[in-house]
Amino acid sequence: MAEAKSGSMDKIVALCKRRGFIFQSSEIYGGIGGFWDYGPLGTELKRNVKDAWWQDMVRNPPPGPDGREFQMVGLDCSIIMNPKVWEASGHVGGFSDPMVDCRACKGRFREDQLDESPCPKKPSKMAGQHGDCDLTEPREFNLMFKTFIGALEDSSNVAYLRPETAQGIFANFKNVIDSSRVKLPLGIAQIGKSFRNEINPRNFTFRSREFEQYEIEFFCHEEEAPIWYEFWRDVRHSWYTGLGLTSEKLILRNHEGAELAHYAKACADVEYDFPFGLAELEGIANRTNYDLKAHMDKSGKDLSYFDPQRGEKGERYVPYVIEPSGGVDRSVLAFITEAYTVDENRASPELMKFHPRLAPIKAAIFPLVAKDGMPDIAKPIYDEIRKHHNCQYDAKQSIGKRYARMDEAGTPVCFTIDGQTKEDGTVTVRNRDDASQERIDKSRCLQYLQDQLAAD
Ligand code: GAP
Repeated sequence: MAEAKSGSMDKIVALCKRRGFIFQSSEIYGGIGGFWDYGPLGTELKRNVKDAWWQDMVRNPPPGPDGREFQMVGLDCSIIMNPKVWEASGHVGGFSDPMVDCRACKGRFREDQLDESPCPKKPSKMAGQHGDCDLTEPREFNLMFKTFIGALEDSSNVAYLRPETAQGIFANFKNVIDSSRVKLPLGIAQIGKSFRNEINPRNFTFRSREFEQYEIEFFCHEEEAPIWYEFWRDVRHSWYTGLGLTSEKLILRNHEGAELAHYAKACADVEYDFPFGLAELEGIANRTNYDLKAHMDKSGKDLSYFDPQRGEKGERYVPYVIEPSGGVDRSVLAFITEAYTVDENRASPELMKFHPRLAPIKAAIFPLVAKDGMPDIAKPIYDEIRKHHNCQYDAKQSIGKRYARMDEAGTPVCFTIDGQTKEDGTVTVRNRDDASQERIDKSRCLQYLQDQLAAD
């Protein structure tokens, strides 16, 4: 029987919990809406996604368009910043969703999502659909989480958990330029937590209240911005395909006029067709020099850049910004969804076909039985591989069950030490994707694994 690629969200959520990819936060207390914890496999997967992004975008980005040179550096800003940052960025005044309250059931819903928001009353219907629903006029609800700094909880001590990592980069633009011997075109990258008090968190981790973003603010001259916009849009789209989102489910959608933010000149979304529908993984935008100018106005600091290479005497300008802004958790969910495969030919049909770079465990080392000298051969192989890659040693249960567990974790290869190993020094290599087996010399396990990882 053929393999099925697409899983229903329920099956994927169940596997995530059963195998320790993702748990509901504070589950023993009934959970908390919009917050999630990554288990042992999920933590490795998420780390691999972030490491791949950092390696491919910051340390070793692809060559620029038409041989143009550029620099990339990293930043790690605080989550709580001076509230003036959020006034300048427009988040205090405008980062809001329209909300309605129901006077009958006391529920609170997003006005633009009433059709998808269940009313707490029984029988279960969507908000506004019970005969006695009594909805208020919409009111704007700011999505930033508020907190207070210091001992006094009054308005002069209000601070916000950042709703995006981008503003920390804008606020530090001058610091980076002055301290780092960098020149434009320049990308400043950051991975970190962001927080939004989403009214309607849903679709597993897709819309959460606490999530991680990976963002690049790429600073360049206005005239070059269209070229760099196209460059980053295409680089970001192909990054996802290069890591395994190769199906027709991944699309790049250009925004049309009215959809563009008032300050943006161009924008495109990388979208993935999840079981719950097509949804955004990342947006790539030409944000003009709106943000730097807003911070110049509010802070009174000069955030312009002197470019000695433009014109005869150089040129001073406020740079344009191209912003590829993605969600780590959404990408992880897309990689999980794409990897999820059901193969009815296997005793345990579910497996995760992760790209080897993303696989949480790269290899497993199994002595066929935990005796007859097999562990003595298996342990040194394990010790050698673990110095370089995350791998697991397992000597319990039948070999079929051990393979099945590794298939569910998405482990690309398993090395089994068996009776023949003692005779001729070879081990069985078992491949996740087609369950094929071959024999190699036990001294070649690490090299074999590294060849496999490099091949994709
Ligand atoms: N600096 C621009 C910015 O933050 P955004 O479209 O609001 O733009 C960028 O967010 C990315 O962050 C989204 O494409 C998405 O992947 C992720 N993201 C936004 N809100 C999220 C949420 N509530 N839960 C999970 N990821 C979210």
